Amino acid sequence: MENKVVVITGGSSGIGRALCDCFIDAGYKVAIASRSEQMLEQVHADLKSEGHDIFTVKTDIRIENDCKNLVDKVIEKYGRIDVFINNAGITWYESDEDGINIEKHKEILDTNHFGTVQCTKYALPHLLKTKGSLVGVCSIAGEVGLPNRSAYCASKFAMNGFLGSLRVQYLNRGLHVLLTYVGYTSTNIRKIAKDDSKSNHFPPGYGETVKEKGMMTAEEAARHIFNGVKKRKRSVRPSAVGQLTVWLNKLFPKLNDKLAAKYYNNKKSSL
Ligand SMILES: NC(=O)c1ccc[n+]([C@@H]2O[C@H](COP(=O)([O-])OP(=O)(O)OC[C@H]3O[C@@H](n4cnc5c(N)ncnc54)[C@H](OP(=O)(O)O)[C@@H]3O)[C@@H](O)[C@H]2O)c1
Repeated sequence: MENKVVVITGGSSGIGRALCDCFIDAGYKVAIASRSEQMLEQVHADLKSEGHDIFTVKTDIRIENDCKNLVDKVIEKYGRIDVFINNAGITWYESDEDGINIEKHKEILDTNHFGTVQCTKYALPHLLKTKGSLVGVCSIAGEVGLPNRSAYCASKFAMNGFLGSLRVQYLNRGLHVLLTYVGYTSTNIRKIAKDDSKSNHFPPGYGETVKEKGMMTAEEAARHIFNGVKKRKRSVRPSAVGQLTVWLNKLFPKLNDKLAAKYYNNKKSSL
C-alpha cells in the first residue's frame, strides 16, 4: 500500500476530512484540495502533529485550470494517482416564495457537476494507468427528487449520469467507478448554505453548528466510502433511510412522492 496515492477534493472539511483519516490509516499518500488556504493549512498542521504528512493544493474546482493544476501537482509530487475522490460540494434549499433561482442553479451545477467533470478530465489518464478508482460523492438527492432542492438534485443527478457513463465506457480498461449515494450527514454543508440563504425552508435543526440531530457522522459516511473503494464496489448507500427511499422510489414511485411531500411539509410546518 506504501506507494498508493489518493486525491480528495473538499478534503478540508466534513466527509472529505474524515476520508483523509481513513486513507492515512490504510497507508495511502494523501493529497487534498479546496479553496480556503487557511483550512488546508489547518488540516496539514493537525495531521503533522499526529506524525502524518499530507499534500495540499489550493483549488477551486469551478476553474478548469485549477483542476489541471491539482492533478499536475500531485503527479509531480507522487508520480501516480490510484484513487480520485470527487467530494467537494455545496448545497442549497429553495424557498417556495423565491421560486426557481437561475443564478443558484448555475452556481450549484458549476461546483457539484462541472467541478467533477473538470477534475475527472485531468485525473482519468492517470487512473487508467493504475487501473484505479474514480469516486463520486453523490447523494440520495442524485437518485430521487427532493422538494426545495431542485438545483442540488439536478447537480447530483448530472454527476451520477456522468460517472455512470464513464464506468461503462472504461469497464474493459480496468477503471473502477464508485458512486456513493450519501444520506443526511452532519457537516458544515447546511450551515454554509443557511448563512448564504434567505430561505426559511431549512428543516428544523438543519445547519446547526453542533451535530445535527439524527444524522450520520462524517466519520461513519467516510468509512462506508473507504470500504467501497477497498472492495471496488459499484455503489454505496451509507444510510438506511436513504436505502429505503431509493427502493420505495423504484418499486412504488407514486407512494414515495407522497411520503416525501408529507415528510418535508411536516418539517416546514413545524418551523
Ligand atoms: N452532509 C450531507 O448531508 C451530505 C449528503 C449527501 C451528499 N453530500 C455530499 O458530500 C460532499 C461533501 O460535503 P460535506 O457534507 O462534507 O460538506 P462540507 O463540510 O461543507 O465540506 C465541503 C468541502 O468542499 C469544499 N469546496 C466547496 N466548494 C468548493 C470549490 N468550488 N472548489 C474546491 N473545494 C470546494 C469545501 O472547502 P472550501 O469551501 O474551502 O472550498 C469543503 O472542504 C458534497 O459533495 C455533498 O454534496 C453531503
